[in-house]
Amino acid sequence: MEPTTATGLFPTALLGDIAVPAGIDGFLGTRASFGMDVVLVGLLATLPILAWSIYLVARRRDYASHRRLQLLIAAALLAAIVVFEVDIRLISDWKLRAAPSPFWPAGVLTALGIHLVFAVSTPVLWTWVVWEAWRRFPTPPQPNAHSSRHRFMARLAAGDLVLTAITGTVFYWLAFVAR
Ligand code: HEM
Repeated sequence: MEPTTATGLFPTALLGDIAVPAGIDGFLGTRASFGMDVVLVGLLATLPILAWSIYLVARRRDYASHRRLQLLIAAALLAAIVVFEVDIRLISDWKLRAAPSPFWPAGVLTALGIHLVFAVSTPVLWTWVVWEAWRRFPTPPQPNAHSSRHRFMARLAAGDLVLTAITGTVFYWLAFVAR
C-alpha cells in the first residue's frame, strides 16, 4: 500500500528512499493543502474590505477609517503569505496535489505563470504604497501634497491585488478542484 501523511488522507511521494509527505490537507475539501486554502480565503476576504475602504475615502472622506482598514488588509495579507510560504516550502508538495488534475502540467503551470506576475508585484507595490502613505500623510490622515501620487499608486496596487485574487482562484481551481 502507498504510504500516507500524518492525517492519513493524502499519499506521499517516494524520492529515492525518502518519503515526502504531501503535507497538511486544507479545509475547503479540495486537493489543496492548508496553506493554499489560507491564502485563497485570505485573498478573497480582503476584496470586500478593500472595496469598503476605498468607498469610505472616496465618498465619505473618512480618511482615518480608510487608513485603519488598509493597515488591517496589509497585516492580513502578510499573515496569509507567511502561512503559505511555510506550508509550500517546508511542509506540502503542491505538485503532488495538483498532479491528478486533467490540466496538469501545461494548464496548471501556465495559470501559475500568469498568476505569479501579479502575486509577486502586489506585495512590492502594496508595501511601497502603505509605507509612503504612512510617512507622507499626517496623523490623523488628511489630503496633502502626496494625494495625487497616492491616488495613482494606490489604484494600481488595488488593481494588482484584485488581479492576484482572480488569477490565483483560476490557478487553484485548475490545480486542486478540476477532476
Ligand atoms: C495599499 C494600501 C492603500 C490603498 C490600496 C489605498 C487606496 C486608496 C485609493 C484608491 C484612494 C483614492 C480614492 C479616490 O478615488 O478618491 C485613496 C485615498 C487616500 N488614502 Fe489610501 N490607500 C492605501 C493606504 C493608505 C494609508 C496607509 C493611508 C494613511 C496613512 C491612506 C490615506 C489616504 C488618504 C488621506 C486619501 C485621500 C487622498 C485625497 O483624495 O486627497 N491610504 N487611497
